[in-house]
Amino acid sequence: MNITDNIIQSVVRKQFSRAMRFDVGESPSLPLPENPKPRLLYLHIPFCEQLCPYCSFHRVPFEPSLTKEYYRALIKEMHLYREMGYDFTGIYVGGGTPTVMIEGLVSVLSSARALFGIREISVETNPNHLSEENVRLLVEAGVNRLSVGVQSFDDGLLVRMDRFEKYGSGKEIASRLRSVQGAFQTLNADMMFNFPTQTEDILQWDLEMLKKLSLDQITYYPLMVSSSTRRLISNTLGKTSFHREADYYRLIVDNLTHDYNFSSAWCFSKKRSMIDEYIVDYDEYAGLGSGSIGYLNGVCYANTFNITEYISRLEKGELPLMASRSFNERDRIRYDFLMQLFSTRLYRRRLKGKYGKRWWQAIVFPFLVFFVTGRIRQQGQWWELTPRGCYTWVVMMREFFTAVNNFRDYCRKGI
Ligand SMILES: C[S@@+](CC[C@H](N)C(=O)[O-])C[C@H]1O[C@@H](n2cnc3c(N)ncnc32)[C@H](O)[C@@H]1O
Ligand code: SF4
Repeated sequence: MNITDNIIQSVVRKQFSRAMRFDVGESPSLPLPENPKPRLLYLHIPFCEQLCPYCSFHRVPFEPSLTKEYYRALIKEMHLYREMGYDFTGIYVGGGTPTVMIEGLVSVLSSARALFGIREISVETNPNHLSEENVRLLVEAGVNRLSVGVQSFDDGLLVRMDRFEKYGSGKEIASRLRSVQGAFQTLNADMMFNFPTQTEDILQWDLEMLKKLSLDQITYYPLMVSSSTRRLISNTLGKTSFHREADYYRLIVDNLTHDYNFSSAWCFSKKRSMIDEYIVDYDEYAGLGSGSIGYLNGVCYANTFNITEYISRLEKGELPLMASRSFNERDRIRYDFLMQLFSTRLYRRRLKGKYGKRWWQAIVFPFLVFFVTGRIRQQGQWWELTPRGCYTWVVMMREFFTAVNNFRDYCRKGI
């Protein structure tokens, strides 16, 4: 990482950690929908059959009876949003492992489609769930995008990640992916780079496997380390450092951009129209499920991370909120600037249309820094990231998600 990226990393780390200080304890509230616009429904399923040491998402070991109750509570929560007047055009089911109890997921999706005007559905899963029966049920439930957690095809790394036994060897994962190709509009593989013991040869081998598989979409996350995972990662995977991250990112981009376009700085799609990570496509999303985070009309909020409390509050007909924070207009504009450029292109008129003249004042300083240092260039009405800018955005988004993960750690304290 060069000196400018290092400075940008330190500045945004401080800013994001300040932005993620929520009013926990005060009675959090949700704004009502002001105008009809495409909004996304994010549904969180926190159960996993095996917990990976690097992961700081909200996840707990799978328990069948609790999971059953949980899916029911999620349906109740969707009804509360309907009653408030919300409608959604897209669904993203993330985890944990949403397919851990497929019949529960199918009933949640069919309720969501009955309640809202859903046009697209994206679901996360693990390779051991790619059975013929599951795929049939997901297709029937209207799933257009299936995102499979692969991380790497290297068995040594998979063992260190504690994924080899439960989620399969590199060879098994590749053959399962091959078996479901073509079933969905978009089949995505979630990969990770910059693991401490991941050599350049291992990364190159993963990239060769991906090129052979020729999937619709590949998302390559840089390893993110939160305060709660730091020690576990260093004990199981080794000590993390960012010094190779830029070189590894360049290797990924060089290998994938012959056949793929950027959907975001770390997501590569075969066709431009592919559905990708929701955060890029929707500027508002409701977060439902224990530990989920939503962003509606400038208010960011989180649900309780305590799963039994989540279920019991919904049984009483209450929203399971635990914290919220309302952002001022300058912060909202900067958030939009960050997210829209994460897709590698920003249409200036869109920001102007949304915020009027004030949009420019809010971003003039960061824009000039990125423009003068060759990270953003102008193309007519668009701004786009240069190759150098793409890596800077990877650094900033890594820091953004790390701040979110630290906030999750904070919320889970005491459970
Ligand atoms: C949170 S998981 C949920 C879906 C599924 N359970 C799985 O393992 O893929 C989604 C993806 O997030 C990414 N991820 C999880 N922890 C991460 C971390 N600490 N740093 C970077 N990416 C991470 C992995 O690529 C993972 O596949
Ligand atoms: S990476 Fe996926 S399977 Fe592993 S603990 Fe996180 S959510 Fe669960």
